[in-house]
Amino acid sequence: MNANVNPKTIFTGDNLPIMRGMNSESVDLIYLDPPFNSNANYAAPIGSEAAGAEFKDTWTLNDVDAAWLDLIEAKHPALNRVIHAAMTNSDKSYLIYMAIRLLEMHRILKPTGSLYLHCDPTMSHYLKLIMDSVFGKSNFRREIIWNLETASGFKSQVKGFIRGHDTILYYTKGRDFLFNKIFQPHKPEYIKRFRKTDKDGRRYRDDRPNKRRQYLDETQGVAFTDVWTDIMSFQQHSTSKERTGYPTQKPLALLDRIIKASSNEADIVLDPFCGCATTLVAADRLQRDWIGIDISAKAAELVVERIRGDQGMFEDIVPRVDIPKRTDLGNIPRYNAPENKTQLYGEQAGNCNGCGEHFQTQHLEIDHIIAESVGGTDHIENLQLLCSHCNRIKGNRGQEYLISRLNER
Ligand SMILES: C[S@@+](CC[C@H](N)C(=O)[O-])C[C@H]1O[C@@H](n2cnc3c(N)ncnc32)[C@H](O)[C@@H]1O
Repeated sequence: MNANVNPKTIFTGDNLPIMRGMNSESVDLIYLDPPFNSNANYAAPIGSEAAGAEFKDTWTLNDVDAAWLDLIEAKHPALNRVIHAAMTNSDKSYLIYMAIRLLEMHRILKPTGSLYLHCDPTMSHYLKLIMDSVFGKSNFRREIIWNLETASGFKSQVKGFIRGHDTILYYTKGRDFLFNKIFQPHKPEYIKRFRKTDKDGRRYRDDRPNKRRQYLDETQGVAFTDVWTDIMSFQQHSTSKERTGYPTQKPLALLDRIIKASSNEADIVLDPFCGCATTLVAADRLQRDWIGIDISAKAAELVVERIRGDQGMFEDIVPRVDIPKRTDLGNIPRYNAPENKTQLYGEQAGNCNGCGEHFQTQHLEIDHIIAESVGGTDHIENLQLLCSHCNRIKGNRGQEYLISRLNER
């Protein structure tokens, strides 16, 4: 499917309506490093390149729109069960916030595409279940452990073992996914075994019986496993030139590995929580096309600064604050088409999706679960039948309503 967003676009805004405006199956690779539900709020230090950037990572029901839960309950029952398995309303709020976005990411990924979800042990166990529901358990590929080795400084005063890793959940859209095998650089001890050099300056060894010359540049090395110990975090490497001061900035080397493994040149890489643009800079250097989204305007400034710093002033970057319009919905029927009503009546067994009461078809109304004004489409996956009472009160449901639904067993 053709993309409806130009490459090298950076959006400032909430990624949910923006992704809702993107065509299905139009992106090759998604990396996301969302808030982790760490119960902390982050701000960049004054005076750093990223000063002014901040984001919150505490979750309440105010972060949840009742329509998101409607969609999950009506169309994704397995996902709904996972959300209800969380212990607190704060955790449930976070999971609903993530689930509704991961559904859009799944939709916009190409059939050969991959998604890497960066998180930590606070929520990784719940997020894996969410990902199993959205992507299918068989599309789970690896849990990547990124070793942070923070075992120094004041953190060593903390009682108990020190957390030394982040978790990256790697899923693909399907079985037929793109993957370029990448290899670890050879260790110096191994290189030393290639003692001889030929007339072209190539190192080789011929010290093994009955074996022809083995050239160093023809040996592949060892493929990377899912435990990554060779990429330093900024906690270890706080003076790195790469550092912008953006809270939670990730190293370029981490994104370099993911992008090389799961995309080719000219493919489209999306980071919907792009922060100070690490993914976009790494993608740009590797000749990939990229799309970034961040709710903070500071992110867009940093993208322009970092990419122009890399590629020169005239690098074309498209900053946007509007919501894109999908161009792939051409032939679906209008929401109120009779065939939609017939199908939904069958799916819901004649019951209203609000109160659960049974009605004759003429007493049920077709409703956009996610309103058109916030990017909801006429697609059957966004439609449900409600009785006229439930349809009328839908817009006026307060927090108590959400609380009662989240606490239903
Ligand atoms: C953990 S940081 C990402 C850091 C990034 N990987 C980097 O290397 O700089 C999370 C980012 O998500 C952004 N964010 C939070 N909620 C968002 C939303 N609903 N839509 C878009 N961006 C959001 C925050 O502003 C923050 O920049």
